[in-house]
Amino acid sequence: MKKEMEMLEASPMCPVQVANQTWWANVLLEHYGIPGSLAPLDGEYDLNFAVHQEGARTHVLKVMRAGCENSLIEVQCLALNHVAAHAPEVVVPRVVKARDGSQFVAARDQDGEERLVWLITNLPGRVYAQTSPQPLSLLREIGATLATMDRALEGFAHPALEREIKWDLRRSGWVRDAIGLIDGDGRREIVERIIAEFEGDLLGRLTALPTRAIHNDINDYNMLVDAGSGELRLSGIIDFGDMIDAPAVAELAIAGAYAVLGQERPIAALASLVAGYDSVRRLSDEELALIYPLVLTRLAVSVTNSAIVKREKPDDPYVTVSEQPAWNFLETHSSLPPDWVLSCLRTSCGRAGHPRAEAVMGWIASHRGRFAPMFGRNLDGIPVIDLSVASPASPRNPFDLDPDDLDDAVAEAMEDADIGLGRYGEPRLIYTGPEFRKAPYVGSPRRTVHIAVDVFIDAGTEVRAPLDGVVHAVELRTSPLDYGGVAVLEHTTPGGDRFYTLYGHLAADVVTRLAPGQAVVAGEVIALIGDRAENGGWTPHVHFQLGLTTLGRGADWPGVADPDESAGWMELFPNGAALLNLADEDTAAVTIATDTVLPQRKKYFAGNLKLSYRAPLTLLRGYRQFLFDQDGRTYLDGYNNVPHVGHCHPRIVAAAERQNRLLNTNTRYLHPAQVEYAEALTSRLPDELSVCFFVNSGSEANELALRLARAHTGAVDTIVMDAGYHGNTNTAIDISPYKFNGPGGRGAPDWVEVVPVADPYRGPYKGIDPDAGRKYADHVRAAVERIRARDQRVAAFICEIFPSVGGQLIPPPGYYRHAYEAVRSAGGVCIADEVQTGLGRIGTHRWGFETQGVVPDIVVLGKPIGNGHPIGAVITTPAIAASFANGMEFFSTFGGSTLACVIGREVLRVVDEEDLQARALDVGTFMLEGLRGLQDEHAMIGDVRGSGLFIGVELVKDRDTLEPAQEEASYIVNRLREHRILIGTDGPFDNVLKIRPPLCFTREDASHLLHRLANVLREEPCRM
Ligand SMILES: Cc1ncc(COP(=O)(O)O)c(C=O)c1O
Repeated sequence: MKKEMEMLEASPMCPVQVANQTWWANVLLEHYGIPGSLAPLDGEYDLNFAVHQEGARTHVLKVMRAGCENSLIEVQCLALNHVAAHAPEVVVPRVVKARDGSQFVAARDQDGEERLVWLITNLPGRVYAQTSPQPLSLLREIGATLATMDRALEGFAHPALEREIKWDLRRSGWVRDAIGLIDGDGRREIVERIIAEFEGDLLGRLTALPTRAIHNDINDYNMLVDAGSGELRLSGIIDFGDMIDAPAVAELAIAGAYAVLGQERPIAALASLVAGYDSVRRLSDEELALIYPLVLTRLAVSVTNSAIVKREKPDDPYVTVSEQPAWNFLETHSSLPPDWVLSCLRTSCGRAGHPRAEAVMGWIASHRGRFAPMFGRNLDGIPVIDLSVASPASPRNPFDLDPDDLDDAVAEAMEDADIGLGRYGEPRLIYTGPEFRKAPYVGSPRRTVHIAVDVFIDAGTEVRAPLDGVVHAVELRTSPLDYGGVAVLEHTTPGGDRFYTLYGHLAADVVTRLAPGQAVVAGEVIALIGDRAENGGWTPHVHFQLGLTTLGRGADWPGVADPDESAGWMELFPNGAALLNLADEDTAAVTIATDTVLPQRKKYFAGNLKLSYRAPLTLLRGYRQFLFDQDGRTYLDGYNNVPHVGHCHPRIVAAAERQNRLLNTNTRYLHPAQVEYAEALTSRLPDELSVCFFVNSGSEANELALRLARAHTGAVDTIVMDAGYHGNTNTAIDISPYKFNGPGGRGAPDWVEVVPVADPYRGPYKGIDPDAGRKYADHVRAAVERIRARDQRVAAFICEIFPSVGGQLIPPPGYYRHAYEAVRSAGGVCIADEVQTGLGRIGTHRWGFETQGVVPDIVVLGKPIGNGHPIGAVITTPAIAASFANGMEFFSTFGGSTLACVIGREVLRVVDEEDLQARALDVGTFMLEGLRGLQDEHAMIGDVRGSGLFIGVELVKDRDTLEPAQEEASYIVNRLREHRILIGTDGPFDNVLKIRPPLCFTREDASHLLHRLANVLREEPCRM
C-alpha cells in the first residue's frame, strides 16, 4: 500500500534538493501566484511539497512522476470536488485552481521533462498512525465519516476508476506467488491460510456485490486527527490516488485493517469503526459477514508486500518496523473464531449476533414447557445459587478457588433441596485458573461471565436430552476447572435452522455412552452427572449451554466470557432457560449497572460528595490489593491506604465476624479487648506516649487532640502547615488550609497561624540545601512570635508528619526537631497527625515522626489502624491526659467498642506477622527505582519521592519553572483506571500522582503498575 505520509516533512536536505525546491517554488509562483517556501514530504512515486507561507503550512504542492496520465489527476480533482460538494462535513483537501483556472498544470522539471502539477489545501492534524491512544470514539467517528463519504461517492463516476491496481482487494490473490518471501515461524502458514480462504468463496462473494467509487486506501497515514477540542477527532481524509470502482465493503475492510493495529482490544476497535459506518450507511448481512475475512486478507496482502519490499531494500529498517503491528495482529488474532468476531460486529450495529438467532430462539421459546425434562422433573421454583461477584461465599479467595468453598456455598444456598440453579450471564470470580486469565499478571483481565445455565444435583444423576438431536462431539477434558466429561448435541428446528446444546461436567463414561453421529431422542439418558474427580474438580452439576454455533471447535466451547466481550459471546450462546422449561428470568443473572446506581446516588446525595475518575467505578468486592467491579473486572489498588493489610483480609474478617457474634458494646464496661488493644498500641510507641483515647475517625481524633492541647496549655492558638488536611468537622476544617483556603473555604480563623509546607521540591528551600529543615522550622518560630505579638499563647502545632494532600511530601531532615523546639519553648504542644503515614507504610520506620528522631506530645491515628473499620485513636502523655481529666466525662459511643478493639488488635498482629513494614520498604524501593527510571525518560516527571509505599510523582510542564502538569496528571490517572489500575492525584495543583496501596502490594503489582504507567506516558497527551 502506498504511504504518502503527507504530514511527515523529510529530513535535512542536500544542495540538489534545495535547488529542486527553489525550482518548484518558482513554478508555484508562476502558475498559482503563491509566494511560498517548500519543504519536501515523503512520497512513494511523486514529489510532494508542503507549502509554507509566513511560517504556516498552507498547501501541499503535488508534482506527479513523469508520464503520469492526466486522467489520474483529473479523477482525484473531480472526486475531491464531488465530496466537497455532496458531503461538506467530510473534510478533504480542496483543489486550488491555477491562475488560468485549470485544476492542474503541466510544467517542466529541471531535466526538461514535463510533469503535471496540482495544488491542494493543507489540512490540520497529525496522521492517525502517530496518534496514541486511538480511542473507540475516534474509530466510530472515522466509520461514520467513511460512510458519509461513500454515500457521496455513490454518484461519482470516471473512466479512470476502472484501472487495475494491486491494492484492489479483489486482486489480493497476487500475493500467493510471493508468500515464499515471508520469513519467520508460522508466518507463511498464516498468510497461506488467509489467501486460501480468500480464494475459496470470499472472492466470489465480494465480486457479487455492486461496485461504485471508493477511496480504496484509508490507511493510517491517510487519516488526519486533531486533538484541538481536547477530544481526538478526525480532521481530514487525504490521498485519493488509489481510487477505484469496487464494492463499498472494501473501503470499510481496508480501514478496518488499520483500525485493529496496535489496539489492546482490536475487535472492539473494529466493531466501533463498523458501528460508526453502519449508523450512516446500513450494512447488509452479507457485507457484515465479509468485513473480518477481508480485514485479514488486506493484512495478508500488506505483510506479503512488505516481504517483497524487504527483498528489494534489505537494509531499510523502516520496512520491518512498519510491518510489525500487522504481524502482531495476525499472529495473535488471525485465528479468532470468525463467528464471534461477526457477532461482535453485528451486535455493535444493533443486530442479533448470529443470523440464525431469531429463527432458533423463536422456535425454542415457542416450545418452552414442552421439552423433555433434563432430570425427569419440573425445575420451577428450585433454589438459585448466587455465585455472582457480590456473593462472599465463593470463592473466599478470588485468585484461588477452594473447591470445598464452592461445595459449602452450594449446600448453604440449596438448604434442604437436592437440586439448584446457577445463573446465565452471571459474572463470577470462581474462575481462578490461569486459563481464564488474558495476560501474565495475577490482576490481569480474566473471563468471568458465565454463558450457560448450571443445574447443581448429585453426582450420578441421569441427564436426559431435552429434545431430539445427533451427537456432535463427546470428550473427556481432564484439566483442572475444565469440563471433565462433555457432550454436544446438534439439533435442527422444523424450519431447518441448526443449533447445539452442550452438557459439561459429566461422568467420564459419557465417552462410552455417546459417539459422534449417534442419534438421541428427547428424554433419552445421555450421561450421568460427574463427581469432582471426573468433572474438572467442581461441585457436581451440569453446565448446560445453548449454542447457535460450535465455533468449529467440537466440544471446546468457552463457557465463560470476558466481561468486555460478553455481549458478542452471549449472542452466540444465549440463555437456554426455555430448553429447561423455565422462563428466561428464572435463570438470568441479576445485573448491577453503574448507569442505574449513578443517578440514584445523585438523587440521594449532595453534589459535593465526589466520585473518583471520569468513568466512576462500581465496586462490589475487594481482596487484598485488588478490587472487583460488578462484572468481575479486577482492579489493582495502588491508591487505598485504609485497607492497610489488604481489602477484606481474611484474618480481620474472621476476627470481626467472631466478635460480632459475641458482643459489641462500649467503653463503659470492662473488656479485655480494650486494654489489650491499648497495650498493643502503646507498646509500639515511645514510652512517653502511654495514654489512649479511642474514637471513630481521624477527624474526631484531631478534634480531641486539640481539646487535649487546649486543656493542657490553657491556650487556643494553633500553628498549622499549609496545604494540610485534618478532617471534616468544624475544628478540623479550621486547622486544614487545604479546606479553608480551598474551594468554598472561608480562610484561616484568627486563632490559626499557617506556616509554609515543608516541601523540598516546590517550596522556597530545596532538598539539596542541608539547612532546609531549619529554614522551614524558622517559619514555625516566626508564627510563635506572631501569636505572641497578638498577646496570645500557643496551644499546639499540628501537621501531617509527611504531608499527604500537600503532595506526598517528605519534609527535610531536622525540620521537626527545630519546629518542635520552637513550639515547646513557647509552652505549646506538638501534635503529629499520623493518619496517613502510621503503622509501617513508610517502610523505614513504624511512624513518620521516628524518621526525624522526635517524639510528639500527642499522636493522632486513623484510617489504616482499623483496615476499613472506623477507628481513630489519640495517644498522649500522662501529664496531658491528666490536664484533660477535669471532671467532664469523655465518651465516644463507638470509639473503643469491643469490635473496634478486636479489629484494631488484629490489624497490629497482621502487620507484624506478615512483616508488612519490611514489605512496604522492599516493594516501595523497587517502585521508586522504576519511577526514577521513567523520570529519566520523561521530562514531565519533575520529582519522584517517597518512602516505602507512600509515594508521590510530581508532574511539571517545565522542570525549571515547575509549572504544574495538572491535566496530564488527570489524564494519566484516568487512563490507568481504564487499564484497571487505581491511583490518585494530590498536591495543591493536583499534579502529583499519589501511589499509596495496601501494604500487601507485591513487586509483581509494582511491575504491573510501572508497565502500564510507562505505556500511558508515551501517549500523545503526555508528550511534551
Ligand atoms: C492526615 C489526615 N488526618 C485526618 C483525616 C480525617 O480522617 P477521617 O476522614 O477518618 O475523619 C484525614 C483524612 O483524609 C487525613 O488525611
